[in-house]
Amino acid sequence: MLELRNVTKRYRAAGKAAVDSLDLTVEDGAIFGFLGPNGAGKSTTIRMIVTLLRADSGTIAFDGVGSTVDVAYKRLVGYCADEPLFYEKMTGLQHLSFIADIHRLDASTRKARIDELAGRLELGGALSDPIASYSHGMKQKLSIIAALLHQPRLLVLDEPMVGLDPKASFTLKTLLRQYAQKGNTVFFSTHVLEVAQELCTTLGIIDEGRLLYSGSFEQLRTLNGSQGQSLEDLFLSLTEEMP
Ligand SMILES: Nc1ncnc2c1ncn2[C@@H]1O[C@H](COP(=O)(O)OP(=O)(O)OP(=O)(O)O)[C@@H](O)[C@H]1O
Ligand SMILES: [Mg+2]
Repeated sequence: MLELRNVTKRYRAAGKAAVDSLDLTVEDGAIFGFLGPNGAGKSTTIRMIVTLLRADSGTIAFDGVGSTVDVAYKRLVGYCADEPLFYEKMTGLQHLSFIADIHRLDASTRKARIDELAGRLELGGALSDPIASYSHGMKQKLSIIAALLHQPRLLVLDEPMVGLDPKASFTLKTLLRQYAQKGNTVFFSTHVLEVAQELCTTLGIIDEGRLLYSGSFEQLRTLNGSQGQSLEDLFLSLTEEMP
């Protein structure tokens, strides 16, 4: 279970909070979709969950392990960034081997996992090429494989569908569903409301750093007698009601 308690982050000491007193619980086996307008605070929240940023106040924990407990927490978490960065002179395989080294995966385990994931995402043929020669979507696939390599209990992805072709996007959705069905937790942000509606067991909607809603799509529809409305209608009305 992922737990965020009263998490606040300001980029400038005196400025408005990018994330403001966020309270959120995501259960094991959930696929949690994080929605919100541009600049709402999604990536900031995600970077705090994966320990790239430190919260000014509040706590984050997974399975009771606090995010400040460095290595023990990091072992539990896999992260696919919104704009992944690589050493572009490396080949895809060298990058994945480097990640596998960090997680101390043995030779047969890493080979089996790389073969399986690269096969499913159809990146196998390019793994011996330098990353500099990859398209945007190919880099995205590499980043997804790297995030999954150590089979993290919590998989965090920031807009993972961006740049993926329809087939890869379908494969990723299947992969995320299967991953969550094993009892892992998937936390991802997206602007594609159809994907959120189709894939997520739970949704969170954030705007101006504050969580407006957290729960299932069906629960959201029954709020304020809003049965029959699409997620787009609900999203727009929720995010436009902000003061
Ligand atoms: N490195 C930074 N320095 C200063 N302010 C930042 C920085 N990163 C983000 N912000 C500000 O924090 C707020 C939240 O940004 P964040 O990137 O978390 O939004 P987001 O929900 O991920 O948006 P998008 O949908 O566009 O990716 C915005 O007001 C943004 O301007
Ligand atoms: Mg973002």
